[in-house]
Amino acid sequence: MLSMSTAISLAGKTALITGGGRGIGKAIARRYAEAGANVVIASRKAEVLQAAAEEMAGLPGRVHWVACHAGRLEQLEKLVAETEATFGPIDVLVNNAGTNVGQGPSLQLTDEALLKTFEINLLAAHRLCRLTVPKMIERGGGSVINVASIAGINPQRESLAYSTSKAALIMATRLWAVEWGKHAVRVNAICPGLVETDFSQFFWKNEAFMEHLRATQPIARVGRPDEISWIALYLASDEASWTTGQCFVIDGGATAP
Ligand SMILES: NC(=O)c1ccc[n+]([C@@H]2O[C@H](COP(=O)([O-])OP(=O)(O)OC[C@H]3O[C@@H](n4cnc5c(N)ncnc54)[C@H](OP(=O)(O)O)[C@@H]3O)[C@@H](O)[C@H]2O)c1
Repeated sequence: MLSMSTAISLAGKTALITGGGRGIGKAIARRYAEAGANVVIASRKAEVLQAAAEEMAGLPGRVHWVACHAGRLEQLEKLVAETEATFGPIDVLVNNAGTNVGQGPSLQLTDEALLKTFEINLLAAHRLCRLTVPKMIERGGGSVINVASIAGINPQRESLAYSTSKAALIMATRLWAVEWGKHAVRVNAICPGLVETDFSQFFWKNEAFMEHLRATQPIARVGRPDEISWIALYLASDEASWTTGQCFVIDGGATAP
């Protein structure tokens, strides 16, 4: 029988979201659980994750949390094992945890800050793909969603580490899509503009920056995490079965001019 519903369902899917306890990751987790997916949220702070999971209890999908430092391989291995043991094989991987250390003039960027940024923003995503994609291939498909940034498309002033790590994540998205397309593993990136979260308060609490944003950005305000979550819902779903290797910019038009 033909379904008359236009609502996207993720029922029966298992999703793993790094950085899922707050901000954009939490908005995606909520959207997925509302659509029926079982979701594991993971980051360093157990109390934040636990509170987020409690908030989402009662939605159609179940939400489980795992404390995990994205820069530690053994913790990522445990995260994947616990996700599979709790909800079964992973269908959707959202590489959302991100960091921005070493903001400032490029000539002052230290080796440590550059490496740390790449460890979280690129290496963790690569490691999680290595831990999950072979099983997606075995099972006939899956969806990887990388939360990059418009800073990976246009240079963000005095953010050498952050901008280059996000540019690398966008390129990895395209490379992985090319490699895994024949296995029906789709890989896409989301590039948000300025969204009001803890992470970005340096910008949205800066009146001079906000004045510039209001003067130049077509939709002249910061975004909300839930405004990023809808594209993540689509990309996770079977409705996106012909969508891969792309970078979806959701930025209030910031990069349009
Ligand atoms: N907000 C924006 O304007 C904006 C714009 C473009 C792109 N983004 C991207 O969006 C993603 C989510 O950021 P957000 O804005 O939602 O900020 P947020 O609310 O501060 O969330 C960042 C998340 O990453 C987790 N995280 C950071 N370092 C981690 C580590 N070492 N191990 C595990 N988890 C870690 C944090 O959890 P713990 O602290 O508990 O570890 C937190 O859940 C990031 O990749 C960011 O680059 C944000």
